[in-house]
Amino acid sequence: MAESILEVENLRKYYLQPRGLFSPFKTEKRIIPAVDDVSFYIKKNETMGLVGETGCGKTTIGRSILKLTPVTSGRVIFNGTDITHLTPSEFRPYRRQMQMIFQDLDAALNPKMRIKSILTEALTVHHKLSEAEINHRIEELLEKVNLKKSKLSSFSGELSGGEKRRVGIARSLAVGARFLVADEPTSALDVSIQAQVVNLLKDLQKNLGLSYLFISHDLRIVELLSHKVAVMYLGRIVEMGLAGRIANAPRHPYTRILWSSLLKKKSQEATQVPSDQHDGRWGVFDFERSYSGCRFAPRCPVYEAKGNPAICSDPANAPKLSDIGNGHKVSCHFPLE
Ligand SMILES: Nc1ncnc2c1ncn2[C@@H]1O[C@H](COP(=O)(O)OP(=O)(O)OP(=O)(O)O)[C@@H](O)[C@H]1O
Ligand code: SF4
Ligand SMILES: [Mg+2]
Repeated sequence: MAESILEVENLRKYYLQPRGLFSPFKTEKRIIPAVDDVSFYIKKNETMGLVGETGCGKTTIGRSILKLTPVTSGRVIFNGTDITHLTPSEFRPYRRQMQMIFQDLDAALNPKMRIKSILTEALTVHHKLSEAEINHRIEELLEKVNLKKSKLSSFSGELSGGEKRRVGIARSLAVGARFLVADEPTSALDVSIQAQVVNLLKDLQKNLGLSYLFISHDLRIVELLSHKVAVMYLGRIVEMGLAGRIANAPRHPYTRILWSSLLKKKSQEATQVPSDQHDGRWGVFDFERSYSGCRFAPRCPVYEAKGNPAICSDPANAPKLSDIGNGHKVSCHFPLE
């Protein structure tokens, strides 16, 4: 088995939020278990897709792994080293190997710097290089991300969305990234450009052996890029396994609903019937709703069809993520056949 580049063990990140201006308890704080006992690993050269509806905790996982936010408990192990409690100076050598591609195309690009200066700064942050070496490395980077040399004299505001994304990726490569958390890296781009960025990420993985945690709402792209997929619901991973099995043979009712909305969209596109986007089930569902036992019970069609079995709502019996073979894990008392 290939070595893991990242292991996440029992990760928890709880936020404290004020109860709100109109609450009678407005001075009290509410605990938001944004990430609640999450464990997974990513092997070298592997992509793990992370999906789930808005607010379920995907970005919080990415930020916790990269130490952009302190964790409540649990461990993050990068390339065999427990980085969870490293000080900023101890973490520095790892930081350059672990980078985040943010949804915001401008996040990593200083608008006052020309592209050449952005890349030069990234190349020389850890290494002293001569001008000839810098020029050579920049040429290599441009080739890797397929960007024209003429763009080096531009400011980021003069670039298209796809070009900005390429510069952002080149910048991560320049500092020495081995592992990338890509948080919605294609959502701000036109559909035609999305495919180019997905192909670029695939090529870079093949040529440089990169590993990705790929966060996206676009299940089609997740299927294309990921070797395995984790499905999150309100802070927990409810199903995890090889991408093909998650997409085509899901065992958790939530995963099936998620992917059936994609199948519906595909068939609507094929028949050219306009999509209504929502099927009524997808209202905003967040940590404010009370739950006991399985967090998905209030929306679960299996729970409803089985006449609300007590085990699903028993606080002492919350379903645990269990292995059902071939590394496929599911957290449900009545997994789908
Ligand atoms: N800094 C913060 N302080 C308090 N609560 C936060 C903070 N950041 C996120 N949250 C809450 O944590 C939960 C998870 O948020 P997160 O951004 O991880 O979700 P997400 O799955 O990335 O959503 P999206 O798909 O919309 O990007 C949400 O309920 C959010 O409101
Ligand atoms: S444990 Fe029960 S409520 Fe939860 S997903 Fe499974 S069947 Fe539905
Ligand atoms: Mg997010």
